[in-house]
Amino acid sequence: MAHTSKAYVLDHKVANIKSHQWRTARNSAAFVIDSIHPDMYILDVGCGPGSITVDFAEMVPKGHVTGIEIGADILSQAQSLAHERGLENVTFGEADVNALKYPDATFDLVFAHQVLQHLPEPVKALREMRRVAKLGGMVAVREGELGTSFAYPDLAGIRNTVELYVRVARNSGSHPDAGRELLSYALESGFTRSAITASASSFCFSSDEDRAMWGKTWSDRLQESSFRKRALDGGFADPTDLESYAKDWRDWMTRDNAIWAHLNGEILCRK
Ligand SMILES: C[S@@+](CC[C@H](N)C(=O)[O-])C[C@H]1O[C@@H](n2cnc3c(N)ncnc32)[C@H](O)[C@@H]1O
Repeated sequence: MAHTSKAYVLDHKVANIKSHQWRTARNSAAFVIDSIHPDMYILDVGCGPGSITVDFAEMVPKGHVTGIEIGADILSQAQSLAHERGLENVTFGEADVNALKYPDATFDLVFAHQVLQHLPEPVKALREMRRVAKLGGMVAVREGELGTSFAYPDLAGIRNTVELYVRVARNSGSHPDAGRELLSYALESGFTRSAITASASSFCFSSDEDRAMWGKTWSDRLQESSFRKRALDGGFADPTDLESYAKDWRDWMTRDNAIWAHLNGEILCRK
C-alpha cells in the first residue's frame, strides 16, 4: 500500500507529527464528545499518531476504538501511545478510507479529523464512512481551513505561507476549502439535511508552548518536507522565498504578543 495518499501534501515528518500530537479529543473533537457513550465502537479514520484516538478509547471503557491509517509508518507511534496510557481497548491498522474492509453497519461512530481535505474524492470517502456506520450511529468530521486564519504580527512570510499552502494543495488535487464544503459533502454522500448538524470552531495558538509548536511546524515544513518539494516542483516558490517565510515563522513564535487562529468546519451526521 502507498505510504500516504497522493493528494496528502504534508507527510509524517517530525514537524507535522508534532502538530498532530498536540491534538486531543477535547481541543479537536469537542463537537462530538458529548455524544460518546462508554460502550461505543468507534472508527478513527486517518488517525495519524493517535492522540485523539487514545482519548476516545478512555471515553469508551466498555467499547473499542479502531484507528486506521494509509501511512503505516506512523502506526507504531500510535501503538506506543496506547501502551503508555495502559489502554487495551484500542487497535490500529493500515487501511484506505476509500475501501474499508468492514461490513456495513459496524461502528457507532465513524470519525475523521483533518483527513477529507487531503483526499482527491472526499465524498467517496464519506460514503464509505457512512456505509460502515450503524443505523442510528454517527459520522463526525472536522476539517480546518488555513485560508480563514489571522496572525499577529501580520508578517508577510506568514501570509505568503497560507497562500502557498492553498495553491500547493489545489495543485495536488486536495481540498483546502473542505471546512466550508463539509455540509455539501455530507448531503452528497447520502445523509438527509435534518440528520446533519454543521458547526465551526477554531484552533488558536498563543501560549509559549503552542506558538513554539505551530511556528516550528511551519518553519520545518518550509525547509524540509513533501510540502516544500511540491511548492518548488510546482514553481510556486523558490528556495529564497521559502527561507524568508520560514524566518518570519521563527520570528513570530518568539514574540509574546503573537497569536494565530483559524476556523475548522464540522459535521455531525446521524445515519
Ligand atoms: C493531517 S493528518 C491528521 C491525523 C489525525 N487525524 C489528527 O488530526 O491528528 C491526515 C492523516 O490522514 C492520513 N490519510 C491520508 N489519506 C488517507 C486515506 N486514503 N485513508 C486513510 N488515511 C489517510 C494521512 O496519512 C495522515 O496521517
